[in-house]
Amino acid sequence: MNQKKILLGVTGGIAVYKSAELVRQLVKAGHEVQVVMTRSATEFVGPVTFQALTGRDVFVDMWDKQRGDSMAHISLTRWADAFVVAPATANFLAKLANGIADDLLSTLAAARECPLLVAPAMNKQMWGNPANQRNIVQLKADGVAILGPASGFQACGEVGEGRMLEAEEIALHVDAALQPKPLAGKKVLITAGPTFERIDAVRGITNPSSGKMGYAVARAAWEAGAEVTLVSGQVSLTPPPGCRRIDVVSAQDMLNAVNAEVDAADIFIGVAAVADYYVLNQSEQKIKKDAHILTLELAPNPDILANVTARDNPPFCVGFAAESENLLEYAEAKRRRKKLPLLAANLVQTAIGADDNEIILLDDEGEHRLPRADKLELARKLVAHAARLYARQNKV
Ligand code: CTP
Repeated sequence: MNQKKILLGVTGGIAVYKSAELVRQLVKAGHEVQVVMTRSATEFVGPVTFQALTGRDVFVDMWDKQRGDSMAHISLTRWADAFVVAPATANFLAKLANGIADDLLSTLAAARECPLLVAPAMNKQMWGNPANQRNIVQLKADGVAILGPASGFQACGEVGEGRMLEAEEIALHVDAALQPKPLAGKKVLITAGPTFERIDAVRGITNPSSGKMGYAVARAAWEAGAEVTLVSGQVSLTPPPGCRRIDVVSAQDMLNAVNAEVDAADIFIGVAAVADYYVLNQSEQKIKKDAHILTLELAPNPDILANVTARDNPPFCVGFAAESENLLEYAEAKRRRKKLPLLAANLVQTAIGADDNEIILLDDEGEHRLPRADKLELARKLVAHAARLYARQNKV
């Protein structure tokens, strides 16, 4: 696992209870977590909760005589790879925006060297307060990542903007902050999931693709700093934060969506398991059962990836090849036929629906094997490889 050191600041708001779940998510992802609480945060949840979840003593006080380390405000920020404050109160954000350092947590923030992310949590009036909004503008200008806040039901009984993001989403942002950004400012268009070709009002032809690989590639591209558009067939997955998703059903819908978006894209990655055929004799109504043999006429679907590579000024294109035999031979033939600078080859038997996979990257230089790993890890390596080739091709 790719273990990193995360400094988690906890300030005093009712959303503190969600921070315990955030710690669990970060620890589950393999990270080491050090919690620092403000005095008012301890009024909501005791330090022992975080101590138990992290296995590390919680820091609260600048002047704790029990500790040998009188330079905690320096050593802790040097230790950390990323610093996240969740929840971040209006008071903490105001201090941060103005460089005020009057307790351990705000002093740590002032002395930081690593990326800082804050997840605001407050009542909707406090969030909308002009002073708070000024502080948010200042913090963004200072390079602080502002996560959320979300809108919805608030602990005070009101409904509006100011809720802290859920732990899972904050953890995704923390992971992203730890990744290199070779695609900063680039636009990446991705197809994912299966397509569904209608037979009648209630039936269709599809395949068991879960969309996991395409969504992992979307997440990896977003983590690498890209602006991601995800054209997705029907799947039961949540898109990564920051990705724009366009839902489609059939291969023709997917092609239309790709055509509408592709001019803006720097990189196109086709991960979708596109049905090769659609039904010519579709029925508007549900076909009734009778004793006769039912014949479906199938006509070939457009090849979306080949359509993109055939454009006059195509984006940098990456394809996937799902093969059930002769992997390398078939995949390299597919790469040449579709004119792809990069293709990720995998065996259907090991890929479809699974959480992990094994991939061979094929490019003009030959083959690069990515050993079995979870799909996110593979997607990060694929995106890093594509970013290198893209940079070389475009001399950036
Ligand atoms: N692809 C596509 N449109 C299609 C078929 C495939 O965009 N109509 C893309 C896939 O998203 C993938 C690549 O082409 O990136 C290869 O897909 P794959 O299903 O392995 O190959 P096919 O081109 O369908 O060829 P075959 O079925 O003969 O293996």
